[in-house]
Amino acid sequence: MQFTVLTLFPEMFAPLQESILKRAQEAGLVKIQLVNFRDYATSKHKNVDDAPYGGGAGMLLKPEPIFAAIRDLPQPSGRRRVILMSPQGDVFSQGKAKELSEQEELVFICGHYEGFDERIRELADEEVSLGDYVLTGGELAAMVMIDSVVRLVPGVLGEDASAEEDSHSISLLEYPQYTRPADYEGRQVPEILLSGHHALIKRWRRKESLRRTFLRRPDLIKAVTFGADDYLLLEELILEHEEIAAWQPLWKHLCPQPKRRRKSSHNPEGKQ
Ligand code: ADE
Repeated sequence: MQFTVLTLFPEMFAPLQESILKRAQEAGLVKIQLVNFRDYATSKHKNVDDAPYGGGAGMLLKPEPIFAAIRDLPQPSGRRRVILMSPQGDVFSQGKAKELSEQEELVFICGHYEGFDERIRELADEEVSLGDYVLTGGELAAMVMIDSVVRLVPGVLGEDASAEEDSHSISLLEYPQYTRPADYEGRQVPEILLSGHHALIKRWRRKESLRRTFLRRPDLIKAVTFGADDYLLLEELILEHEEIAAWQPLWKHLCPQPKRRRKSSHNPEGKQ
């Protein structure tokens, strides 16, 4: 997958030469090209910004260098998406990362200074914001997006499963994890994880994921795909947390109810 970044500060992208991103590039899975659009400025002083018409504070990026840089990109070999980094865009999410990872090329336009000349917006297929705060430029936001998209490119992570299992891609937060030692200065790893009982460990992990999501990010619950086994786990969790009990109308609506066994002469209490 190809990433092309239009920026006035290519040196800011040095962190992309480390760790998993470095290996992904060395393995030829990912190519990152940095284009300094100041190189496309035609004035004597290579100006890329100017004062806003109508007055006001700060400077705006001029259209000509960015239009010229985009026009000079080689023809895309496949699906290309041009993204303008801006606090006015749609807020980035794991879902958006997944969608973008299906493209062959992403082009990021990173602004700096007070803003863009409005005509620059027409170069972009979409505008994306990292969150509801204002950065000094789009570079850090583009790096975050590149990082989260690269790890979804097939082959980049050792196991394909680890990207799938992460928080947010399945809309439940991840369960707590532990490694050796089993006892660290009196802090014990939960007994069940040492038991080797795979079915019980799986149940414990699912319950802890549900607990974490309800307690920390109840806003994610609406997007969870519940299974019938979750019903019983949630019935346990409402006895443990008032907060989860308060969400009962929502999850009772979203979660399939397990079929209760009918009472019979063999099973007089209707036990499951
Ligand atoms: N440029 C400035 N602030 C930004 C933000 N929040 N997201 C993306 N690009 C930006």
